[in-house]
Amino acid sequence: MSELLRTPFGPKATADEVLSGVDLTGRRMLVTGGASGIGAETAAALARAGAEVTVAVRDPAAASALTDRARQEKWKGEVRVRRLDLADLATIRELTRAWHGPLHALVANAGVMALPGLVRSATGWEMHMATNYLGHFALATALLPALRQAGAARVVAVSSGAHRRHPFDFDDPHFEYTPYDPWTAYGRSKTANVLMATGIARHWAEDGITANALMPGWITSGLQRHLDLKTLQAMGAADENGDRIDQPHYKSLRQGAATSVLLAASPLVDGVSGRYFEDNQEAPVTADGTGDGVAAHALDPGDADRLWDLAHTALR
Ligand SMILES: NC(=O)c1ccc[n+]([C@@H]2O[C@H](COP(=O)([O-])OP(=O)(O)OC[C@H]3O[C@@H](n4cnc5c(N)ncnc54)[C@H](OP(=O)(O)O)[C@@H]3O)[C@@H](O)[C@H]2O)c1
Repeated sequence: MSELLRTPFGPKATADEVLSGVDLTGRRMLVTGGASGIGAETAAALARAGAEVTVAVRDPAAASALTDRARQEKWKGEVRVRRLDLADLATIRELTRAWHGPLHALVANAGVMALPGLVRSATGWEMHMATNYLGHFALATALLPALRQAGAARVVAVSSGAHRRHPFDFDDPHFEYTPYDPWTAYGRSKTANVLMATGIARHWAEDGITANALMPGWITSGLQRHLDLKTLQAMGAADENGDRIDQPHYKSLRQGAATSVLLAASPLVDGVSGRYFEDNQEAPVTADGTGDGVAAHALDPGDADRLWDLAHTALR
């Protein structure tokens, strides 16, 4: 393993700080789930630095707060809005067929977490896997010509530390034979996100495309919408009255977007590919799945290729 990449940015650096002095004029970027949470702050920072940012969202009206900010604050770049439901392959086809010209960075940010019950997409995939992984794989694959055209495009996969306890289960990825568990489903889909970056780094390197994955940190957002009070309290995220608590290690949304923009646009990671970052630094491989870092199962080239084939087959 090569030496871990280091940047000057600490865990609480904001996305704007990471992009300070970086001019993204002329760069075109796509951020999924860009109407809210970390995605909106990722899109905002990229557009403030001059990029033309398309946010791909389920409900375009929900992105109006972002486009209003862009106008009122006179951002250097532009924010465009396109409809996309990652669990609906028809909307992916619609967006990608209408895409013209280069794409310099795809930020696979959108996600769902801990859906209480087993839900399947129209393709029959379990919904975490369909949304967090397969939709992004389909999007990246269909946008390959645009990524190629950019010359040195980047794909950024927003994963989570939740991947560490859950290797991808090739025997039963959609809970057909084993009982459904919301955290297992989320964790496996986040392993799949890292494996997607690992796969792209392996398969699209000749096209000049790099791909990396990341853990954004702990951020209070809409992601926790399916967690009941007991779970939030057990996580230390709510007090006995049910009010949300921000722990000292939690990040703001702007801090949570920092590692995403580092990987999407910073010259500090030019040419870097197939790696996993957290807190604006490359993270080490963790041996036992505890603590921080990336689990070896998420960087495994054999599993990355196997999942690559599985997804290609599903999309045929
Ligand atoms: N917050 C954290 O502490 C944390 C920690 C680790 C990893 N992450 C990761 O960070 C990413 C962003 O999460 P967040 O915290 O910003 O949560 P969020 O505010 O809930 O954002 C998630 C976004 O994904 C979108 N989305 C969900 N399903 C979709 C679908 N089928 N098609 C298109 N878009 C869809 C949501 O859109 P709607 O508004 O339409 O639902 C929302 O904009 C996720 O991948 C998450 O796993 C977050």
